[in-house]
Amino acid sequence: TVKDRLPCLNDTFLKSLAAPRSFSVDYQNDCFRRDGQEFRYISGSIHYSRIPRVYWKDRLLKMYMAGLNAIQTYIPWNYHEESPGRYNFGGDRDVEYFLKLAQDLGLVVILRPGPYICGEWDMGGLPAWLLNKKDIVLRSSDSDYIAAVDKWMGKLLPMMKPYLYQNGGPIITVQVENEYGSYFACDYNYMRHLSKLFRSHLGEEVVLFTTDGAGLNYLKCGSIQGLYATVDFGPGGNVTAAFAAQRHAEPHGPLVNSEFYTGWLDHWGSPHSVVSSAIVAKSLNEMLAVGANVNLYMFIGGTNFGYWNGANTPYSPQPTSYDYDAPLTEAGDLTEKYFAIREVIQMVRTLGPIPPTTPKYAYGTVGMKKVGTQLTLCFYELTIKKLFAFGYVLYRTTLPVNCSTPTPLSSPLNGVHDRAYVSVDGVAVGILERNKAITVKVTGKAGSQVDILVENMGRINYGKYINDLKGLVSNLTLGKDMLTGWTMYSLRIDEAVSQGLLGETKPTDPPQPAALSLPAFYEGSFIIPGGIPALPQDTYIQLPKWRKGQVWINGFNIGRYWPTRGPQVTLFVPANILSTAAPNNVTVLELEEAPCSSGPCSVEFTATPHPECNSPVKLQTAPA
Ligand SMILES: *[C@@H]1O[C@H](CO)[C@@H](O)[C@H](O)[C@H]1NC(C)=O
Ligand SMILES: *[C@@H]1O[C@H](CO)[C@@H](O)[C@H](O)[C@H]1NC(C)=O
Ligand SMILES: *[C@@H]1O[C@H](CO)[C@@H](O)[C@H](O)[C@H]1NC(C)=O
Ligand SMILES: *[C@@H]1O[C@H](CO)[C@@H](O)[C@H](O)[C@H]1NC(C)=O
Repeated sequence: TVKDRLPCLNDTFLKSLAAPRSFSVDYQNDCFRRDGQEFRYISGSIHYSRIPRVYWKDRLLKMYMAGLNAIQTYIPWNYHEESPGRYNFGGDRDVEYFLKLAQDLGLVVILRPGPYICGEWDMGGLPAWLLNKKDIVLRSSDSDYIAAVDKWMGKLLPMMKPYLYQNGGPIITVQVENEYGSYFACDYNYMRHLSKLFRSHLGEEVVLFTTDGAGLNYLKCGSIQGLYATVDFGPGGNVTAAFAAQRHAEPHGPLVNSEFYTGWLDHWGSPHSVVSSAIVAKSLNEMLAVGANVNLYMFIGGTNFGYWNGANTPYSPQPTSYDYDAPLTEAGDLTEKYFAIREVIQMVRTLGPIPPTTPKYAYGTVGMKKVGTQLTLCFYELTIKKLFAFGYVLYRTTLPVNCSTPTPLSSPLNGVHDRAYVSVDGVAVGILERNKAITVKVTGKAGSQVDILVENMGRINYGKYINDLKGLVSNLTLGKDMLTGWTMYSLRIDEAVSQGLLGETKPTDPPQPAALSLPAFYEGSFIIPGGIPALPQDTYIQLPKWRKGQVWINGFNIGRYWPTRGPQVTLFVPANILSTAAPNNVTVLELEEAPCSSGPCSVEFTATPHPECNSPVKLQTAPA
């Protein structure tokens, strides 16, 4: 036989002769094998859901030119199945196109389809509509949860199957669940069910794996037989000790750090996270030296456009920017960390030229005009009480008693999810905030209208409190009385903004107290200067002296701003939403108080982000 004459060829290699494309775990030689050859990946995380489609190729190319040979991405279930059975895979959600681009550039893909992903993404990627079933136990064998997972994976995984490496595509490995060992449920039947489900859709050959913290306590509930166990850990620690944890679960096979943290996430009200390039480079070097496979999380963080940010417990939501202090900035620019990492990789691989930084433009100051308050919208859409999905909802009732002296209107500590803007007869009276502010003082006659605009600031994405219902989740009290008789108005704000319906009503608010106003909409527009062929270019918007709210440009929801709490001050505005053919329309929903009471107010478009902690390297010329 062939084997007799060529004794050095092992079974894996012989198998690869029969199947020209193969990808497998080699337990004898502690490595992956691609087409029979030893293969080691140096990968980076990029979430297509956080980057406009037009920039996918640019970001992937920059990753390739840093020396990566692989990328890793999550698939957020709630991004694709907005309501049960209604799927969206178009435009910015076209994950198949994303996979094709990666493959065209020569990058293989590590796919993380969940169903739970964490990722600082709303509810860890699980659809909020799962909470329609009261007391559902997410990430467990709960039959309603499993039925929804089966249906979703029955849609997604067959779509992914042609993109598996052995079928001619870029996907080399597929992760099942995510850091399940950190979840309280520890339900092995659930993990076994997922394992069977993935196999039934993807086949026997694909390498399925799990990822858990590098500690035996995590691997205990996270790893099961049949799924290759990998670990995640950040820079600065003991690489040998961390991989020893993986070796405990997998005595043989490749070493894999599935999430090597290049930076860290942010929360509103805490300083921007910064991790030094030197420490990242040092640990990367150590991992590569022991032959490990590494995924850098994140290589580019991108942006939580719209309402997609998640939150941690005790309730602490993440800002719009998911910059992560990553090697590529939120806007895709090269940083000092990019070059430090490239330097390390260069020792093991030959690299090509780096693409240039994407230019930014400062469009300057744009005057803003008030066009209406929250009340404008109540008449636009009214629905009967349903699950509150995203954005803002208005609760309305009346004062049951005369409050001739200031009377406390209170919620229990965790009763408002997440922030409530309270007004009585159209006059702002105060703000309630989950776990932070539980009382406002109210005066008014019995029968006065009480409006509470409740903001969903993002669902918890990690831990045991991911069943994060939004709205008023407890009864509110007024003095000794309980407030009842609520009507709930669903505000289709995004539809109203994109259809230009805000400008139709003239605001006629009663006078407001000096410190606070009714939540209100403001609009302005700007024209892209002519005669500069390279425009439109990316930019950043900042709202000096504005307090908290949401911004849309040409109907595209840029995200939340909250400069009074920080750390984020500017918001990334990608060029693809700007127009040279018509004035660009800026819409702001200011929830607290706009700086317009004493004259005109404005927003500003700048060419640099703030804070500049993760600033792009200033390149004089693009390196050859
Ligand atoms: C790292 O961990 C290994 C294994 O636990 C241990 O032998 C070694 O001394 C540690 N190195 C340092 C620098 O602490
Ligand atoms: C509120 O006060 C008015 C007089 O100011 C009185 O006519 C009315 O009955 C009171 N309503 C309640 C519910 O106490
Ligand atoms: C609100 O109060 C009503 C009446 O006492 C009670 O039935 C209901 O369970 C309470 N709701 C919450 C969320 O506590
Ligand atoms: C901005 O709004 C104006 C007025 O509604 C409209 O004519 C224009 O097309 C809008 N601009 C863009 C870029 O959509």
